[in-house]
Amino acid sequence: MYKDPSAKYASFRPVELPDREWPDRMLTSRPIWCSVDLRDGNQALAVPMNVSQKLELFDALVKCGFKEIEVGFPAASNTEFTFIRRLIEDGRIPDDVTIQVLVQAREDLIEKTVESLLGAKRAIIHLYNSTSPAQRRVVFGLDKPKIVNIARNGTRFVKERVERLKGTELGFEYSPESFSGTEVEFALEICHAVMEVWKPTAENKIILNLPDTVEVAMPNVYADQIEWFRKHLNNRESAIISVHTHNDRGTGTAATELAMLAGAERVEGTLFGNGERTGNVDLVTVALNLYMHGIDPGLDFTNLNALCGIYERCTGMTVPPRQPYSGELVFTAFSGSHQDAIKKGLAEWNQGNRPHWDVPYLTIDPSDLSREYREIIRVNSQSGKGGVAYLLEAEFGIELPKDLQREFGPIANIEVDRMGREVTAEELKAMFWHEYIDRTTPWKLEQFDANGSGGVCICSAKVWNGQEYTLTGEGNGPIAAFVNALHNGGALKFEVTNYREHALSTGEGASAISYIQIKVADGTTRWGAGVDTNMELASIKAVLSALNRV
Ligand code: KIV
Ligand code: ZN
Repeated sequence: MYKDPSAKYASFRPVELPDREWPDRMLTSRPIWCSVDLRDGNQALAVPMNVSQKLELFDALVKCGFKEIEVGFPAASNTEFTFIRRLIEDGRIPDDVTIQVLVQAREDLIEKTVESLLGAKRAIIHLYNSTSPAQRRVVFGLDKPKIVNIARNGTRFVKERVERLKGTELGFEYSPESFSGTEVEFALEICHAVMEVWKPTAENKIILNLPDTVEVAMPNVYADQIEWFRKHLNNRESAIISVHTHNDRGTGTAATELAMLAGAERVEGTLFGNGERTGNVDLVTVALNLYMHGIDPGLDFTNLNALCGIYERCTGMTVPPRQPYSGELVFTAFSGSHQDAIKKGLAEWNQGNRPHWDVPYLTIDPSDLSREYREIIRVNSQSGKGGVAYLLEAEFGIELPKDLQREFGPIANIEVDRMGREVTAEELKAMFWHEYIDRTTPWKLEQFDANGSGGVCICSAKVWNGQEYTLTGEGNGPIAAFVNALHNGGALKFEVTNYREHALSTGEGASAISYIQIKVADGTTRWGAGVDTNMELASIKAVLSALNRV
């Protein structure tokens, strides 16, 4: 790398927009969405999708609610052409969905493109040519007027063929490709030239798509470019301003959102940010960013995991684990303090007293996307007691008392550390069983009976401690009677300092669990736990579990 990057790289010339309005605006409604998965996304794949993969992804996009879908570049390959014909001839395009096709400003390509659309109910022909200084110089070797002529002629070639698509509700989109790297004045000039040929009206608007083909500046600069363009555009009511961002500087989402503030009414992008180089903007993220602010995005990602599966199968790409909303790890907290806060936040939310979602660390309720709560918390060696307790409760209905959580948390952590990996809820339960429930040495219960009257309970117990003992004791309840019986039998002296019990969910093989904390003479406290189909016996077992752990 250069010590002085300015010797190689120039800063970006900002747009002059002293009265910019977008910073004071808020997003209050959704844009028109256009998926370009089957074109921009597809052309960026090492192995482009075949017809059946494109059909499957098209159906999934329709199911999400996309009403405009760029289905391909029909003049570019046979697969693309065949796919579009299949869509039309097999009647797979719902009446309220418009397909869009991309084409360069060349007459032969436009001819083939029109042919691909014959019989479509609704379609948009998307014409583009590149306009930035670098493209004009390096690729075309043409001056500005000649670049304008390319766009003007391309528009004319399309217009001359409108008759051939008589039965089709036809829209027209023009993109000055590399818009964000183009002088705004020139981008405006070329769009005006296209409009002069196409002659859009307020009823039949042209789509002017202003691509951030390559992110060359910060998102605020792109927003300025969009606002400047919007304010200087003639015949404004006859145009829909559309944006199409890529993610070269990692700010595709920000650029899109600021562009919407600046007046963009339509947004092109892909699922999960597939697309050339660093990808197109991820429309799932932009849509769910609106949703988490209470705005209906008009796209339904209720079954996001299933959508990820279809996307991965069709494109061969993977959704990165930290991709906003859809990544495998986005509803997972590894840190103990995060887990604790999430647990408390979810508990508060589940009480139903808060008007709006406000759970720490979770910007959105995972269940809205059919993501499961159990994915939220995993336990590894950095986790605290909160995560352990959450998993035991969420998975098995085991509600550890707070103080027992404090005792068991570090015990579980030592074991997790030894294993050196994340552990499952089953493994945590096995650790709990090993530490508490299965603690039957030196004391093991063999039989217990208790009878009471007048506030006095008398018990008789058979216990094993190297040999069988029969113990008897008296107290104000079965637990107190059993403690006295143990003392009568010579066991270490202790008192019961804490007690909780609850029913266990079905399927746990026992219907009750009891937790008991005892304190011995030197002040040491220990928890014990017992399970049984009988609540009383669960408590008696818990007493011995605690005693066995001293
Ligand atoms: O990124 C881009 O500029 C494009 C155009 C063809 C719209 O994909
Ligand atoms: Zn693109």
